[in-house]
Amino acid sequence: MITPETLFTGKNKIYLQQVPSTNAYALELIAKTTPSEGTCVFTDYQSAGRGQIGRFWHSEPGMNVLISYIFYPKTLLLRDQFYLNVFSALAVRDLVALYCDDVKIKWPNDIYVGNKKIAGILVQNTLRSNHLRASVIGIGLNVNEKSFPEDIPNPVSISQQTSMTYDLKEIISLLSSKLEYYYLKMNAGQYQLLRSQYLNAMYRKLVPANFTVGGDKAISGIIQGIDEQGRLQVLSDNIVTAYDFREIAYVI
Ligand code: BTN
Repeated sequence: MITPETLFTGKNKIYLQQVPSTNAYALELIAKTTPSEGTCVFTDYQSAGRGQIGRFWHSEPGMNVLISYIFYPKTLLLRDQFYLNVFSALAVRDLVALYCDDVKIKWPNDIYVGNKKIAGILVQNTLRSNHLRASVIGIGLNVNEKSFPEDIPNPVSISQQTSMTYDLKEIISLLSSKLEYYYLKMNAGQYQLLRSQYLNAMYRKLVPANFTVGGDKAISGIIQGIDEQGRLQVLSDNIVTAYDFREIAYVI
């Protein structure tokens, strides 16, 4: 596959054979210096890979993409920070769609193939006074792993879908190019375009589905979309309620 050149995303590369977490490493880096925009930190193995809500991110050594990008989204207001999820999820979705069918974004930023998770994204921001100084976009994408430990919920890799093995460097170049495409759209203020593409790519949108809310209450509902702050809007019992990330979970 021919990889388009990027302007800045992924140009400055920091490769570490092993590290606790590329996100933690990138956050330490921006606390001490100002690496160039689009700098990426990638590794073969994380001993303490971070997932959402304090979870651990599993990845067999050398098999998958484990990478964190540093961006300085100067035009993005704090109240619009959900667009960091939007632009990065669209980029990873497009990348995976080069190899797999039925690729969707499970709100807020998991990438699913069918009913299985192929990639996760962890966005961690640093603030200066009350605006965004830098954003670390950490991406774990399952590429060549052939089988996963039993305790990982519904994982899948590109290789499991296609029975092929991939060059991780090539996948990283493609990822950098997809990220830059959507990042530039976000920086240009094209929020409505990004929003409509995100809504089109949403997993289980407008189909009846089951959820748990507030930790244990089971509900049936239909995802309508997201509100201005990126909360998930679910229609249940004729009422649309907007939920934050910690308030609702899908039953897969
Ligand atoms: C999720 O829970 O779905 C988010 C997972 C994000 C994992 C990636 S792997 C590279 C980067 N470094 C980390 O420690 N986490 C992210």
